[in-house]
Formats: sequence, C-alpha cells, structure tokens
Amino acid sequence: MHIAPSGKALLRQYLIESAPKARARVTNRIGWHDAGPEGAVYVLPDTAIGTAAEAWLCEAEGGAASTFIQRGTLKGWQEEIAARCVGNSRLAFSVSVAFAAPLLYLTGGEGGGFHFRSSSSDGKTTALRVAASVCGGHDYMRRWRATDNAIEAIALQHCDAPLLLDEIAQTDPKAAGEIAYMLANGSGKIRAGRTGAAREVVQWRVLFLSAGEIGLAEHMGEAGKIMRAGQSLRMAEIPADAGAGLGIFENLHGHADGAVFAKALAEAWGRTGHDLRGCRGFDCLAGDAADCWGWREGGVKSRGLIGPGPVGQSDFYVRRFQGGGYGQAASRQPIEGAPSIYE
Ligand SMILES: Nc1ncnc2c1ncn2[C@@H]1O[C@H](COP(=O)(O)OP(=O)(O)O)[C@@H](O)[C@H]1O
Ligand SMILES: [Mg+2]
Repeated sequence: MHIAPSGKALLRQYLIESAPKARARVTNRIGWHDAGPEGAVYVLPDTAIGTAAEAWLCEAEGGAASTFIQRGTLKGWQEEIAARCVGNSRLAFSVSVAFAAPLLYLTGGEGGGFHFRSSSSDGKTTALRVAASVCGGHDYMRRWRATDNAIEAIALQHCDAPLLLDEIAQTDPKAAGEIAYMLANGSGKIRAGRTGAAREVVQWRVLFLSAGEIGLAEHMGEAGKIMRAGQSLRMAEIPADAGAGLGIFENLHGHADGAVFAKALAEAWGRTGHDLRGCRGFDCLAGDAADCWGWREGGVKSRGLIGPGPVGQSDFYVRRFQGGGYGQAASRQPIEGAPSIYE
C-alpha cells in the first residue's frame, strides 16, 4: 500500500477512530495457538484450522512462502508412500515422527529429534523425504547449513510440524550442539530489546529428524566440543542401516534394489505432497476444540478418536516418546512391535 506523505495523518485518524466488527490475531509462528475457552487453532502460513480459525493470520519473520503444499490425493500418498513404509522400520518411524509433531501440543509432549546416521548412501535423505511428504514437497526439506543464523525463524516455521534437517556435517561444528539443544528445548535466546530490558523469549514445540554421515558427538568433536548427555538425549541417534543388507530399507516392495526403491520413493514424493490439511483425522483434531482440550488434559486417547490410517498410529509414538524416552524410541529397532501404519 502506498500512501502519500500528506495522507499519513488521515490514516492515523482513521485507524484510531475505526471500530471494526471483526478482529484478527497476528502470529509469527505456525502451529497450535490457544484460542481461550473456545479451544485451539492450528495456524499454517496461509490458512488456519479450527475454532475461530479465520481470526488468525500468520506473518512470519522474513516472509513465509508456504512450504506446506497439497499435491496429488490422499489415496495416492497412501499407495505410493505409506504402503511402502510397511516393513521398513526407518521409513515408518520417519512418517510417524511427522504425524506425531502436531500432537505434541495436545498431549503435552516434549520436543526433540532423531538423527539418521550412516557413512554411505543408505537412503537417509530418502527417509527425510518420506517424512516431508506428510506436509509438502521439495521446499519442505531443510538443511542443517541453513540453521546457523536462522534457527529461531526456522523453529517458528515448524512449530507443531516436523522439521527435517539434512546433512549435519555442513553445519558449524561449534554451533551444532547448541542448535540441537535449542530446537528440542523449545525456546530461543534471551535478548535485550531496544530499551535494554529482556525481550519476550520466542518459544516453539518441534519434533525434528536429522540425517548425516557423522553423528552429533563426532561433529562437535571437530570443534573440540564435548557432547553433553542432555544433547544426545535430545537428538537420539538411529543407525540408518537397518541391518538387512538393504541400507535404510528392509522391504523393497518388489523393486529390484535399494537404489530403484529410493528412486521410486523420491518420484512419489515429487508427485504427492500430502499436506497436514489432507490428513484424515487432522480436521477432526483441529475442528473439535473441546476434544483438543480434553486430550491435552487427559493424555492421549486419540487412537479411537482419530480413526484408522496413518494419523491414528502416531499416538503410539507420542506415548512412546513420552513414556519410554527418546533413547528407547530410537533404539536399534526403532519401531519394533509397531502396528502397521497402513490399514
Ligand atoms: N538403501 C539403498 N541401497 C542402495 N542404494 C541406495 C539406497 N538408498 C539410497 N541409495 C542410492 O543413493 C542415492 C542417494 O540416496 P539418499 O537417500 O540421498 O542417500 P543418503 O542420504 O544416505 O546419502 C540414491 O539415489 C540411490 O542411488
Ligand atoms: Mg543424504
């Protein structure tokens, strides 16, 4: 909007005197927002879901071209992505982390991350793509390299949504540990505002998946830093090699080899951006504010409420994250005994 200098006073007068019937709240982060007694609203860069959703606008720092996209159909996603996760512990785990992310708020769960590690091309990035397909496409993926200067902005853009960080080795080894810690702990640095008083600390809830050829401890070691126990707990390492001689995969679903299967998944990822809005059950999660509150207070009872399908399984992981801790969840067989994610 361009306003002639002489119009400034008139604009100010208009703003002071106007009494709009409708009001909107502006936020700089996506994800769940407390809408008071009415329940909760899930804000996305270009829309909001839930009670009084129209009244929320997202205005992210630095502008937010939405990386959440919907492409293809839910059925296509189930067939080309979800079905191929069956029998593949790392892929099923990745997709479950993506679905668990929006549930943290409802269950009071803690943020945190998991790191796929292997020194060869085992399909680590492919697993991250599979998780990304829950929310969007190519643009949804992030790299560690981009976090060095923008960690708070990135966290705010992934609050209550999965954050996928590839190539840990490309980040500054001096900063990597701190970044993992901050992401998981859910708050930014305390900074002084213009007046010298402490500004409000930015806060988020983020579940992240990371990948790289080295682990956090090793990477920090390059800068002479020692990983603290708290850091390993907040970013639990998962060996990318699933031990079946197929890299990150265990079941190739009829494909000739791991490379062909990885290619098929990458192509499917390009075709079927899933988008949280398309999730069966997500509307139900966001739509019934009373339930949201009930769940948050009463813990997870979402299995029956959410219904079958990929979303329905995520409560399993949320419970596991909470009860068993990240270390257990990320143990050698991260989803041992897990139910099929595709019914
Ligand atoms: N499990 C696998 N077995 C054999 N080759 C694979 C496997 N996963 C990936 N690849 C090959 O490596 C390439 C890179 O895949 P990517 O998922 O980026 O692996 P990473 O991130 O572990 O390096 C693929 O295009 C494919 O050719
Ligand atoms: Mg890779």
